[in-house]
Amino acid sequence: MSQKLTSQEIIALEDKYGAHNYHPLPVVLTKGQGVYVWDVEGKKYYDFLSAYSAVNQGHCHPKIVAAMTEQAQTLMLTSRAFYNDKLGVYEKKITEFFGFDKVLPMNSGAEAVETALKLCRKWAYEKKGIAENQAKIVVCENNFHGRTTTIISFSNDPDARKNYGPFTEGFIAIEYNNIQALKATLEAHKDIAGFLVEPIQGEAGVYVPSEGYLAQAKALCEQHNVLFIADEVQTGIARTGRLLAVDHENVKPDILVLGKALSGGAYPVSAVLANDEIMGVIKPGQHGSTFGGNPIAAAVAIAALEVVEEENLAQNAETLGQLFRAKLNEYIENSKICNLVRGKGLLNAILINDTEESDTAWNICLALRDNGLLAKPTHGNIIRFAPPLVMNEEQILDCVRIIVETLKTFEK
Ligand SMILES: Cc1ncc(COP(=O)(O)O)c(C=O)c1O
Repeated sequence: MSQKLTSQEIIALEDKYGAHNYHPLPVVLTKGQGVYVWDVEGKKYYDFLSAYSAVNQGHCHPKIVAAMTEQAQTLMLTSRAFYNDKLGVYEKKITEFFGFDKVLPMNSGAEAVETALKLCRKWAYEKKGIAENQAKIVVCENNFHGRTTTIISFSNDPDARKNYGPFTEGFIAIEYNNIQALKATLEAHKDIAGFLVEPIQGEAGVYVPSEGYLAQAKALCEQHNVLFIADEVQTGIARTGRLLAVDHENVKPDILVLGKALSGGAYPVSAVLANDEIMGVIKPGQHGSTFGGNPIAAAVAIAALEVVEEENLAQNAETLGQLFRAKLNEYIENSKICNLVRGKGLLNAILINDTEESDTAWNICLALRDNGLLAKPTHGNIIRFAPPLVMNEEQILDCVRIIVETLKTFEK
């Protein structure tokens, strides 16, 4: 029988044997249920990160676990060399759910973004008529779309890029939430294929664009025959109080990128959705993935989407998000340590009143942990709050109490 390890021992193992590509908060989790997680010493916490919004449906949701275990005992992987009896059913479900003709299934969020970029370029050459190798994709500064070489090629985060070059060409970065910048860029270049945008910049610190930005951007894209690509890997699947964050402005993307909560956190499942006119440009052998669209992923994603619908998670995120921001604003009015709460639905962040370089936000997260709530800073002095969407009112008020009491101990 293996001996039970302490948190310190487990952290030491990761430190010695794992690459140091993350800086986790020192807490070692062993169990999750709904909005709660437990560490190896048995302490219970509210999860206020939800694995970067992957666990929207809550930890170990019974319906998702049942679909996953049943499928795992029946058929796990066929590759796309053969058909499996789950993929088509899932494809029908997800396309009807989001209102697109077709889906291309992948695994991680970054792979789905890569897929969207390839799809957009291919469409530009084969449908729009852009000359070979000239297609440009407009992106936004401070974006986060994943970690592949192409994706970091258009990142402006030095940590994400340094010494990973040479980079992929063909991207133009403009300021986020600046409609004039997009307009000027679309007018200045004739070879633009697409505009890739996060409806809310999550990793940048839950930066919500001005009302109307997404709708105006979409209209400009239409005017210039440029594909509007929405990366909803973090904002999608009910997180912001609508099924998609673009729904707040009734925008229908030409290409929709999903990941994370598409599986409720059970399994890496991502997807690119588009209509036939666009998706039709990819033919057999031109793109793929061994695991993309495997039967477990398909079964899990069907269950995960059904949970979103059956449990009204978008509405719950909207209602609890408003309550959360209202309660925090009451505190912020007279707070010396916290300046602002912003966000939509249950994707929110607070700004800590200290410099970007200070470790105050990190220390607050350590104190929150000690008080039973897990969250992490995004950038310097910003702390993101994104609990599972299966939370109830009593729980969110309890979380507000923990956050406010913790913040008060940092007031000088
Ligand atoms: C908006 C956005 N796109 C893409 C990704 C990448 O997803 P993954 O980590 O699954 O590759 C993330 C991850 O945080 C994200 O927030």
